[in-house]
Amino acid sequence: MTPSAPRLEIEHLTCAFDGQQVVRNVSLSVGAGDVLCLLGPSGCGKSTTLRAIAGVESPQSGKIRIDGTEVLGPTTFVPPEKRGVGLIFQDFALFPHLSVADNIAFGLKGTKAAKRDRVRELLDRVRMGRYIDAWPHELSGGEQQRVALARAVAPRPQVMLMDEPFSGLDNRLRDGIRDETLSVLKEEGTAVLLVTHEPEEAMRMADEIALMRRGDIVQMGAPYNIYNNPADRAAAAFFSDINVIEGEVNGALTDTPFGQFLAPGVPDGTEVDIVIRPQHVRIDFDRAGRGPNPTPQDGTPARAVVTRSRFIGKESLVEFRLDAGGVMSATVPSVFLPKPGTPMWLAIRRDRCFVFPRQ
Ligand SMILES: Nc1ncnc2c1ncn2[C@@H]1O[C@H](COP(=O)(O)OP(=O)(O)OP(=O)(O)O)[C@@H](O)[C@H]1O
Ligand SMILES: [Mg+2]
Repeated sequence: MTPSAPRLEIEHLTCAFDGQQVVRNVSLSVGAGDVLCLLGPSGCGKSTTLRAIAGVESPQSGKIRIDGTEVLGPTTFVPPEKRGVGLIFQDFALFPHLSVADNIAFGLKGTKAAKRDRVRELLDRVRMGRYIDAWPHELSGGEQQRVALARAVAPRPQVMLMDEPFSGLDNRLRDGIRDETLSVLKEEGTAVLLVTHEPEEAMRMADEIALMRRGDIVQMGAPYNIYNNPADRAAAAFFSDINVIEGEVNGALTDTPFGQFLAPGVPDGTEVDIVIRPQHVRIDFDRAGRGPNPTPQDGTPARAVVTRSRFIGKESLVEFRLDAGGVMSATVPSVFLPKPGTPMWLAIRRDRCFVFPRQ
């Protein structure tokens, strides 16, 4: 293996149940110390993909290589325990009749002293050193999860598969354990494939996100790119609330309450959705029926009336009805909470709008 070769490579993986394909032609690769998140709604095929990589599901077709060695192919099937793959699932279970130390040592080979050293090293890494001789039932959920992590990492798997491993934890605990987990895995040079249906978790953890929908990967890229350059309306909507302005193309242009939008190469008569996230809607006060002047960046402002304002922590979410018809929402600093009925002017950041033909 060259240093830059991916630890985990999947080519054209397809899985079916009762003739129904639930994972279709999935290809991806993960390098040493990298985290790839499989993100998508319930039932889109995330767990099935993971189970196929682990070897507990038999795919219809496809190839899987770990450190360049084929573990699945037309004539290859390496059994799960020989794949060098670690697993952490949501319903991880420690062995209740084994101490913390013995749980972690369970999958280790070598002398008793070497095992004890590895157990100590990992428990210190997850800040659980003083629980080495405790029993699983004496630990809180978060502590058990950290032990489960240490146990999964202990045999130094080349690849770690994690299926919603943090969803059982409360928010504050989760952030800490997530970051801890990542730093341990990165240090070990493990390739991580993490399944989640939460975009915030994916953006926080991933070097790369693969967005799945109904068995297909619809988009793959770094969190920043996937958020700021979504493949379609649904991909945009998966990461935040969105505003949609509907229009129809005429001479490569679409008329909207915010002025004309370019729709290059889109045939006349095509219906388009102009999508913008609430944080890219700018709001301004009404000055005797007039709003701010149009600018190249923000286009023409449109008048609207506040219908609802909600305080949601670090920002406020304000909903509007446009004079020209339609609704829009905007997030604004939470010091600002305009009353329903207040007239305002909205402008949308043109460089943050996405124009998609309607599907
Ligand atoms: N053993 C099975 N037999 C038949 N159908 C299955 C089996 N396992 C999964 N499926 C179906 O395959 C599809 C994908 O399931 P999968 O568990 O991979 O989804 P998921 O993306 O992990 O969803 P979630 O976020 O809810 O865990 C679903 O429609 C599911 O009903
Ligand atoms: Mg699942």
